[in-house]
Amino acid sequence: MSNHLQLSAGSGVFEIRFNRPDKKNAFTIPMYEGIVAALRQAEADSSIRVILFSGEGAAFSAGNDLQDFMNNPPDLGAGPEPGPVMQFMRTLSSVRKVVVAAVQGPAVGVGATMLLHCDLVLAADTARLSLPFINLGLVPEFGSTQLLPQRVGYLKAAELTLLGEPFDGATAQRLGLVNQVVPAAELHQAARALAAKLAAKAPEALLLTKELLKSGGDSLAQRIDTEVQHFARRLRSAEFREAATAFFEKRAPDFTKLG
Ligand code: COA
Repeated sequence: MSNHLQLSAGSGVFEIRFNRPDKKNAFTIPMYEGIVAALRQAEADSSIRVILFSGEGAAFSAGNDLQDFMNNPPDLGAGPEPGPVMQFMRTLSSVRKVVVAAVQGPAVGVGATMLLHCDLVLAADTARLSLPFINLGLVPEFGSTQLLPQRVGYLKAAELTLLGEPFDGATAQRLGLVNQVVPAAELHQAARALAAKLAAKAPEALLLTKELLKSGGDSLAQRIDTEVQHFARRLRSAEFREAATAFFEKRAPDFTKLG
């Protein structure tokens, strides 16, 4: 496991903290490998309900390590086996559990595009996102040429990727890339509170809601059918029974003993 990652778990939340502050948490190959292993660990552990990404120091992440890009450019899937960067992208984009991110400073390159694969993003008023690929002679990655226009509309996506200029948390919130902006001193506490709130929700319903939100490509009619099938099964679930019972007993539901 990379010593540039700090992992911790508690109350249903698995926190993956980037811990290379002297290099603004720029990702190295061992960090990608460590994040993939951590995501798999979190997916396999039924006591974990939510994954939280955070960064140590002033930056969330300065993106891929530029030394690595120059000296040892990753084989992005051209070979028979997906390399660590590709595995990171595949794993994060398909993780079933809910993912929260807390962005306190620069989130650059893949440090920004990975946010498109998180479910809830909190930013500090000191956050600064950027997609500088064009300025490096590169192209945007991690599905961002598809996800970004969907999220922010074509014109804004073109502005962000063709100019590659940084933008602050308030702009990111206005564009729909960030849920909420909070004062920097409160960010990590707010993110952990949000993750804990999600972790207390009905766990299967949480997984299924994310799955439904993420399953694009089907028609509205297909989607209504799929939702209804899930909904019918959910009505027979222990989670719904506990929630409805709690309502009538005028108490908060307790999902901790289920599943
Ligand atoms: N890869 C490798 N090292 C990086 C890095 C990266 N992506 N980003 C920052 N660093 C290193 C710097 O080289 C510097 O190292 P040094 O102290 O040995 O000189 C250290 O981290 C601090 O960076 P610095 O630029 O002084 O910090 P800053 O607060 O002024 O700016 C950033 C922070 C993130 C805005 C700026 O470092 C930056 O733009 N980094 C490059 C981001 C990038 O282009 N990523 C790749 C996208 S594909």
